[in-house]
Amino acid sequence: MLKQLLKITAGLLLALSFAVSAATLPDPLELQRLLGPAQAVTVVEPHLSVKGREVKIAYRGYPAGLVLASLFGADWKLQPDREIEFIALDGYRSRIPVGRFSTYQAFLVFARADGSAFRVDNLEQREKAVPLAPYYLVWDNIAAPELLAEGGNGWPYQVAQISLRQSGKDALLPGAMAAQWSEHAALAQKYCLSCHRVNGFGGDKMPINLAERAKLIDTRSWQTWLLAPQSVKPDTTMPALPEGLAAREQIAAKLQAYLKALPVSP
Ligand code: HEC
Repeated sequence: MLKQLLKITAGLLLALSFAVSAATLPDPLELQRLLGPAQAVTVVEPHLSVKGREVKIAYRGYPAGLVLASLFGADWKLQPDREIEFIALDGYRSRIPVGRFSTYQAFLVFARADGSAFRVDNLEQREKAVPLAPYYLVWDNIAAPELLAEGGNGWPYQVAQISLRQSGKDALLPGAMAAQWSEHAALAQKYCLSCHRVNGFGGDKMPINLAERAKLIDTRSWQTWLLAPQSVKPDTTMPALPEGLAAREQIAAKLQAYLKALPVSP
């Protein structure tokens, strides 16, 4: 069966006693052999688009739901508060709530439809010709233009592994914090935790503990850093909060208030 072929490794993250299933993706040739012909999908490429100038790119791949069902079984989407974690070659982790895959249509793509190089410039992170292989998660933001404001968040590339896991609620909203801070924690998860961590939960690209770091930074520096990191450090690869977002200052303030309130745990 596909399941075995895809080298499912069910692991236990003992410290947190979460059940985690992680799968290493087969290479695109193998995936096509398993799933049949891929399809073309056209999206507004957020890494190439700036406000008012949209660049559309056609890719080749599969509906994410089809790949996820073949990796984790048909029940993968039954618990909407679980998360799908996309792990990139460099340790960047993107965690996306299962429920989002029911709201929006995502595709796991492995090539450009016209056969040109499977690369993209990342304007936000000022990187040129970034290789996207082996896999890149894209969203149909033509059917759902509200996604355009989010920029490249939730579009992980160089995806090599996928896992299905419990939500990070215990790390992000310990004790009674959920009552007041759920929205804030979701913002942190969406915009920050693909690269950073809070209390052990998050990505490995720049694995500082934001719960700790935020308490050392004054409000003005915080705002400047989140809205225009390159004005502080011209060569930084940290992206600003997406330009397209309304109320960026308020989002930055919410993140600061939340990260200050969140107790630091080792
Ligand atoms: C794509 C990866 C990425 C994302 C997403 C990201 N950062 Fe960063 N961040 C970095 C990198 C890389 C650095 C190191 C800065 C440098 O030296 O260029 C950094 C540094 C920082 C620092 C340390 C600044 C200092 O000098 O003490 C803070 C605080 C921070 N980020 C907060 C955030 C917050 C809050 C978010 C979410 C709004 C966020 N980051 C999103 C990559 C990222």
